[in-house]
Amino acid sequence: MLSNDEFIRQSLELNLFFIRILKEHSFFLEAAFSPKDQSLALQADTLRCEFTTLLAETIMLADGVISPEVLSSGELVTKYTVDAERATEFYSGILLDTELTHMELSLDKNLTPVISSLLVDQISALNQKAITATTVLADYKSKLLKDIFSCKVFTFNYPLLIDHILREARFYLKILYQLQNRQVVNILEDIIDQEKFWDRIMAEHAKFIRGLLDPTEVALFETANRYGKVFDALTKQALTMTEQTIILPQLSSKTYKATVSLRNFKSAATEGLIQCKIRALAVPLLADHVLREANHYLRLLNTFNRRLC
Ligand SMILES: [Fe+2]
Repeated sequence: MLSNDEFIRQSLELNLFFIRILKEHSFFLEAAFSPKDQSLALQADTLRCEFTTLLAETIMLADGVISPEVLSSGELVTKYTVDAERATEFYSGILLDTELTHMELSLDKNLTPVISSLLVDQISALNQKAITATTVLADYKSKLLKDIFSCKVFTFNYPLLIDHILREARFYLKILYQLQNRQVVNILEDIIDQEKFWDRIMAEHAKFIRGLLDPTEVALFETANRYGKVFDALTKQALTMTEQTIILPQLSSKTYKATVSLRNFKSAATEGLIQCKIRALAVPLLADHVLREANHYLRLLNTFNRRLC
């Protein structure tokens, strides 16, 4: 059974990462509807506000509690997030609460956790609220995807992007339930599960970038296409892994190198979009969003590689 310390730290680290991700998913959904589907946009807006409130609550509880490793990983906020939010607010007219980003940037980097039974209860309640909101958002994405596949609704998001963000919501829910049950995960099983999940996510990010670039961006298109293929191959290999597989450390270290390279590409793309140097159908926040997911995966891979050595 997970100790109170681990329950609190793991819950806050998970929520800080995923609640912002889901807040942005709600934004990407909201901003991509036609004028005809404003009621769907409004539902997404309500969900975005709900995740904004949850993020504010999580930041307040997290000060001095989460590890310096997570704080410095670039998975919660990056040096681009505030500018990406400002530019995206300017393009969309939808407010993104940069104040929360500033609060996250100034979270205390020294661990000074005061583990009280009150904090344990507050975290448990926070996880429960996150489960409820994420379930509503996952249902919304799932219904939207069905309606898109049957040509009842049109959106400017790729259907694969909606499927992708639905998988992310379900993955987050699975971990939230494990935490609420105080389940200690089997390390090898966790490594394999995470690699199977995130390799596919990274492959799809590369393909989204490829598909959202202006046709004149030939060099970036080719680089993104290459990353798509690299991560398709890594996904294929990860899917064959079992707890007995002896090449798992080798695969994890290869995956780490590929993810560093993709992360650097995403970082350059985020900067290029903010500085108006790249032509694309993507707002800067989408680039910063996928950059944070790569940083999250890198932190996990780092932990795995340490454990596998
Ligand atoms: Fe993603």
